[in-house]
This record gives sequence, structure tokens and C-alpha cells, in this order.
Amino acid sequence: MTMVRDSISLPGREVAIPVMGLGTWAWGDRSTWGMDGYDRSYGFETIRAAYERSIASGVTLLDTAEMYGNGESERIIGRLLREDAGNRDRVVVATKFMPFPWRIPFAGALMNSLRASLERLALPFVHLYQIHGPISFRPARTVAAALAAPYHAGLVKAVGVSNYSEREMRAIHAALAESGVPLATNQVEYSLLRTMPEADGLLGACRELGVTLLAYSPMAMGRLTGKYGAANPPQGKRNFAAFPMTEIEPIVSELRRIGAAHGGKSPAQVALNWLICKGAVPIPGAKNAAQAEENAGALGWSLAPDEVAALGRIAKFGQRGLFNRIWQHG
Ligand SMILES: NC(=O)c1ccc[n+]([C@@H]2O[C@H](COP(=O)([O-])OP(=O)(O)OC[C@H]3O[C@@H](n4cnc5c(N)ncnc54)[C@H](OP(=O)(O)O)[C@@H]3O)[C@@H](O)[C@H]2O)c1
Repeated sequence: MTMVRDSISLPGREVAIPVMGLGTWAWGDRSTWGMDGYDRSYGFETIRAAYERSIASGVTLLDTAEMYGNGESERIIGRLLREDAGNRDRVVVATKFMPFPWRIPFAGALMNSLRASLERLALPFVHLYQIHGPISFRPARTVAAALAAPYHAGLVKAVGVSNYSEREMRAIHAALAESGVPLATNQVEYSLLRTMPEADGLLGACRELGVTLLAYSPMAMGRLTGKYGAANPPQGKRNFAAFPMTEIEPIVSELRRIGAAHGGKSPAQVALNWLICKGAVPIPGAKNAAQAEENAGALGWSLAPDEVAALGRIAKFGQRGLFNRIWQHG
């Protein structure tokens, strides 16, 4: 059995996160995830149920961004936390600043964005504040100085980046260190349909630097859950890991086979457990209680090393490219 941890301490000010979080891009989003659009089964009440089931299962890390639903994801989280005062102190909130090059002056724009996020979230601070992508065209030192200011002011407990390559991550890690701020996380697309972070050395560099890798789209935007196939591909603009379902079906079959050997674990649970075994923290999205409950079933057990290796052999390297890394705003 591979040993897995229950929680991870982020460098920063006493922030502990569970080994799996909950992604909230879909909360309030219409074009990709169909809220008030193509997905008629999905709305605030099902989101509330997903939240409650996740928190009850120990999945207390919520990942959001100012971009998600134009702030609606943060507003929904703010409402959920206001209505759930009993759990408010258990919940760890991670949000993101989108560093468009035209947002100037950079440090001032970041601080204004953070304050707007805090207002929507109705929180005095966030636990983790992330730069959404390496798209500001500014030196690492400028970005680091902008992140260090709210950290030193106590408005964020830890800082991270997203969609950073190994080279970009090493540069921001070093620049932050000059300001006395540790880099806590790098959030990148990582799944059985995108193993690039381990193949290109990013995961190894994270281990070396003490940076936690947060794995986004860990079920390839739903494609690895087993509910989609060539005859019923997912709806919406699901651009990450957008391989034809015919290429994905053999991987889902293998997830099913391995899950059966673990007492009937589902493809989603095996796909998420595989990432946890790799030392990454997956942040799967959930739109309702059933999805949240199923995803929480990835916790508390572990794939055998030979199963982890076998899945790695049939996994896909993934798609590279500026569009894939940045412009979907996921
Ligand atoms: N930093 C970045 O640039 C970036 C980019 C992308 C995502 N993210 C973060 O990563 C999080 C997760 O990624 P993601 O939402 O793209 O993809 P994902 O977690 O791979 O897939 C989530 C979707 O799969 C479906 N699903 C979830 N659990 C299921 C289950 N148990 N059974 C069946 N279907 C299930 C749901 O959609 P349907 O029911 O509609 O199929 C759900 O919205 C995001 O919410 C966001 O926080 C960050």
C-alpha cells in the first residue's frame, strides 16, 4: 500500500489543507458549465448541497478565482460561508488574481482585486492567493513584490501561482524568497489525460522546493468519470483535455477495472486517487451532492504502486500551448 497523508501544511502562516480540495469554477458559470443554461439540473441549491457534502467529508479547501462567473463563484462561496457560521473557520479559501498585462500599476491592481474578492467572499483574508497565469509580461520580481504586500499585511496567509512552468516557478520562488515570502503552491492541469507536469519535471521541482502542486481539471472536465462516451460527449466549451472520447474510453475502462479490485471504486475515485498517490492535491469540481460524495470517496484508501504505474503507462502526455495554459480562464 502507498502511504498517503491526510493534510498538508503550506509554507506561510499556519495554513493546513486537506489532500483533496473542491474546485468551484462551475459555480455561477454559464458558458462552460451551463448554470442557468444547458444544465437544467444545476443551480444554487445543488451547489449548496455539494458544499455541505464536501465539508462533511473533510474536503474543506475551496478553489475559486475572481474570473469564475465574473465573481459569481466568490459571491456564492461568501453566501455559503455566511449561512454556515459553524464551519466557517474550518474552510480554507483559495482565490486568484488574473494578471492581464493592461492592469496597471500592477501591485495596485492586485491589491484592488484582492479587496474586491474579499468583499465578495465576505472574508477578512484568504488562506491562499494565486496568480492565475504567467501572462503579465512583468519580471518575476515585480510579481513577487505585488504578492508580498498583502501577505505582509495579513490579507493572505499563503501565496501561490498557477499555470507556471518549472522555469517560471523557480524564478518566482526565488523572487518571493527575497521578500521573505514562501511560494506555497503551483496550480496546473494534471490528470491521466495530462501527465505533462510529471514528464517535464515540474512535479519534481515542486517536491524539491516544497511547493504543493494543486491539480486542476483532475477528471479532465468530467471526461474520466465514466458518464461520457463517444455517443454522449460532454456539453459546453470544455477545452482542457479535449481528446476524442474514443481515445478516452480505454482509459476509463482501465479505471473501472482497477476500481473493481478496490471494492467497486468508480473511475472518478480512481483517477483522483492516482493524483493523490503522486503527491498532488486534486481539486475536482462538483455541481451537486452526489458528485461531491463520489469524489470524496477518493480519500481514505490508496492504489497499489503497480496500479499507479500501470495507469501512468496508458495516460496521455496532454496538450501544450498558450491557449491551453491561459486563455480559458479556468
Ligand atoms: N488555474 C486554472 O487555470 C484552472 C483551470 C481549470 C480549472 N481550475 C480549477 O480546477 C477545478 C476543477 O477542474 P474542472 O472543474 O475544470 O474539471 P474536473 O474537476 O475534472 O471536472 C469537474 C466536472 O466534472 C463533472 N463531475 C464532477 N464530479 C463528477 C462525478 N463524481 N461523476 C460525474 N461527473 C462529475 C461535473 O460536470 P458535469 O456534471 O457537467 O459533467 C463537474 O463540474 C475548477 O473548478 C477550478 O477550481 C483551475
